[in-house]
Amino acid sequence: MKAIITTPGTKGSVRLGAISEPSGTGMVQGADGKPGAEVEVEVVEVGVCGTDLEIANDGYGAPPEARDSLVLGHENLGRVVSVPDGVDLKTGQLVVATVRRPCPERCPPCAAGQSDDCLTGNYTERGIKGRDGYMAERYMESGDYLIPLPSTLTKVGVLMEPSSIVEKGLIQAFSIQRGRMPWEPKQALVCGAGAVGLLAAIFLRLRDLEVNLVAKADPGSPAYKVAQAVGASLLDATEHPVSKLGQELGHIDIIFEATGASSVAMDAIAATGHNGVCCLSSVTAGTRTLTVDADSLNLDMVLGNKLVFGTVNANRRHFEAAARMLGAAVRKWPGVMEQIVTRRVAAEQFADAFTRQPDDIKTVITFSGG
Ligand code: BGC
Repeated sequence: MKAIITTPGTKGSVRLGAISEPSGTGMVQGADGKPGAEVEVEVVEVGVCGTDLEIANDGYGAPPEARDSLVLGHENLGRVVSVPDGVDLKTGQLVVATVRRPCPERCPPCAAGQSDDCLTGNYTERGIKGRDGYMAERYMESGDYLIPLPSTLTKVGVLMEPSSIVEKGLIQAFSIQRGRMPWEPKQALVCGAGAVGLLAAIFLRLRDLEVNLVAKADPGSPAYKVAQAVGASLLDATEHPVSKLGQELGHIDIIFEATGASSVAMDAIAATGHNGVCCLSSVTAGTRTLTVDADSLNLDMVLGNKLVFGTVNANRRHFEAAARMLGAAVRKWPGVMEQIVTRRVAAEQFADAFTRQPDDIKTVITFSGG
């Protein structure tokens, strides 16, 4: 069957190849780490994100053990083709699979079903690290890692994985903040107008915050149209650098950083208001260095009770929460969430999907299950 494959570490090696059918491998493990019942899923579509581009171009990612190639793709949407006895899913059900699988050591978070918080770092991630991804016609997975979706999310279900990342960050930001002080946030800043930034703006609007979105994007771009449609205020990063936004906007209660640029992440920390929280979500696999105004950054963090935390990946609970948020957004702003998927390309045209175009928000590769 068709699959989009790369050799991590070899730039320009992304290709459309043929891999064997996934059936009856006996390799699928359940959340308890034991070989489990295998659900077969036909892939509908898979999103391409910054991490896929980092794997393709910048040496991020790793193939499965004893191999040099990796099937790409983690932002998946599929339909169940066959279900073994004892698994509560039906044929034809729309599903999305989680990305990370527990470490072999079963560290405490992995053992508790929170491999997104794995302590050993020996977790695997489908399509990223040590495990084939979803850019193939079919895959097998344990029902433990499959999240059923209602048919109302058919057109936007491919946004589930980035939505889970955003929703995890926001759930954590709110629960940590409310654990440490009375906290009634009013103003949010989101850095970056890619899919993650837009979803963060949308999920913050659903929480009734005033949302400012700062990005390097053309005011006529699809990203800006989506942001406007949900009532976020748009700031051009060239005229409104994040480093100045703390003063310009007044008190910022929560910042969600999703630009993919570590320098912006440092500015976001500094721009966070007193008693505020800054959630960092950019995966920056490069080696950039930067000089920071360390004394004043530290002083303001201390005197301002500021909280900065990083967040990565998401477990089943966050995917389920993300499905509720996506559903709420689809109901509140009809026709808007669909605009986040700006291009759909067939697997045969995969190269187009890996080449960014100026108006892209989310490019999606379609497979036969569509
Ligand atoms: C994915 C996460 C993953 C992270 C680090 C992100 O692009 O969405 O699922 O944990 O990369 O590999």
